[in-house]
Order: sequence, then structure tokens, then C-alpha cells
Amino acid sequence: MTISSAPGKIILFGEHAVVYGRPALAVPVTQVHADVELSDSDRAGIWIDAPDVNLLAELNTLPSDHPLASVIHNFLFLARVSPFPNLLIKIASTIPVASGLGSGAAVSVALVRALSAHLDKQMTDTEVNAFAYEIEKLHHGTPSGIDNTVITYSKPVYFVREQPMETFRVGEPFTIVIGDTGIPAPTKESVSDVRQLWMNDNARWEAVFDGVADVSFAARRVIEEGWVDMLGTLMDENHALLQQMTVSSPELDRLVEAARSAGALGAKMSGGGRGGNMIALVDAEMAETVAKSLKEAGAKNTIITQVS
Ligand code: MEV
Repeated sequence: MTISSAPGKIILFGEHAVVYGRPALAVPVTQVHADVELSDSDRAGIWIDAPDVNLLAELNTLPSDHPLASVIHNFLFLARVSPFPNLLIKIASTIPVASGLGSGAAVSVALVRALSAHLDKQMTDTEVNAFAYEIEKLHHGTPSGIDNTVITYSKPVYFVREQPMETFRVGEPFTIVIGDTGIPAPTKESVSDVRQLWMNDNARWEAVFDGVADVSFAARRVIEEGWVDMLGTLMDENHALLQQMTVSSPELDRLVEAARSAGALGAKMSGGGRGGNMIALVDAEMAETVAKSLKEAGAKNTIITQVS
């Protein structure tokens, strides 16, 4: 039997602008994870058992563009696995789907790692990441690749599209409260809407993306130096720029405001937006208070995580 696991993620700074080559910062969230257990089976075929999405099916009965089937088909094809083995693949995930926590990328990474280990087809992290990026492209339009990168390496990532992966130091650990609106984030749609804005007025949106790049660049320095007090203001600035891009929503804004009123040092939406999650920077002793306020303001779930 082979077991593999991959964490969730949050984007601290730079979502959307990252699609246009600007830097973004993301960190793994190990409190949530996708887990894959793979074993040889007596039953013919490759059986997928994913109770979270109510799925128990043989691979060939699924449409080829099914998210799980596409990972397995692509892996078997690229790794030249022949004949196909009889397998039972159990998939479980505590990462809420479409919440901005990278559920799809985490399942892809855990699944491809389990397949490569079980079938003795070694893959480096670079290869796993490239594979997961191809799967992201199949399902999400024009992704930057940040989600699969932070999840593959499970480290803080300073990400610039099409550049080698770069990690960053965390000078002083800090605490983040994640608040989930409970509304699925339509990331493909919001990425496509930002593209439409950009195509209609290139100069204006390039300037907004430059504003985000300045924030991400400053945030990296601030995090590396451990100047946590300055980070909250940068989050607020980033949220305002995301509002201009029309990717926030009344629900996200309400949670961001609630976090600030409850004593957070700064707050912003995180990920694709129009649903999904927001994040708030807090002093560690304020984390529970802010999480409670987020729940009172409508958050369906909260996670307290430390970036270190
Ligand atoms: C999604 O987690 C982050 C976006 O910037 C899209 C992407 O980078 O692919 C909204």
C-alpha cells in the first residue's frame, strides 16, 4: 500500500496580478490536506473510491475530462504504464472544494505522488509540479501555476510565473485566521473577467497590477525582516486593489471588515475571490476572538494557522 498527502494553501499577496507576471506570495496550510491511499486489488480495473464527492467508480466508466480520471489517465500515459494494473485508489480530502485553499491541486499532487511511488516511476518535485500544472490548465483556463507550486513544495513560495520556484524566509512567525464565506469561488470566471477588464483598458489594469507587485515585493521584505506590524497595512492595500479588479464580494468584504473591527492587524480576500476565503493577520492571542467575530459575521468555517 502507498500513502501520500498534500496540504492546502493560501495566497498571502498577489492573486490575479500573478497571472500577468507580477510576484505573489503563498504558503501551505497543513491543517487541511488531501490524502491518497493506493493498493493492489483483486478486482479488475482501476477503482476510485472518493467518498467526499460520492464517487466509487472504475476509471474507464468516468468521462476522460473528470478531474480525478484526467490525473490518472495522464499519469498512466506519460509514465508509459502498460498493461494497466488492478488498483484501488482511496481519496479523501479535508480541503473544502472551491474555497481558494487549492483542493484540486492538492488532490492532483497527492495522487500523482502515490501513483509514481506505487508503480515505481520516480518523479522529482519539478516533474510533479509540471504535471500538476498541466492538470490545472485542463480545468482552470489560464492559471498562473502558483497553487500547484506551493502545494508541491509545501513551503512559503515567492512566485513569479514561468520562473523557477523561489522560497522566502519568515523572519518572525505570524498568525493568520482564515474565514470561509462558504460560497464556492468561481476562479475560472473571475480570472476570465479580470482578463476582459485588462483587454478593454490595458494601461489602467497594468497600473493596478503594478500596484499589487509593489505590495507583494514590500511584503516579502517585511516578512523576511520580521516586521509583522507592517504586514497588516499591506494586506489592506492588496484587498483594495482586488476590490478594484471586481473580484471581492459583499460577503468577503463583510468578513474583512469584521476581522478588522475585531482587532486584526489587516485583512484581505485570498485566492480567486467572489466567494471562497479571506485571511486576517492577528496577534496570536487575538486569533480566537477574531475567528469568533468572523463566525458571527457569517463565516462558515475558520482556520487558525501560523506562518513560520
Ligand atoms: C487562484 O488561487 C489564484 C489566482 O491568481 C489564479 C492563478 O494564479 O492561477 C486567482
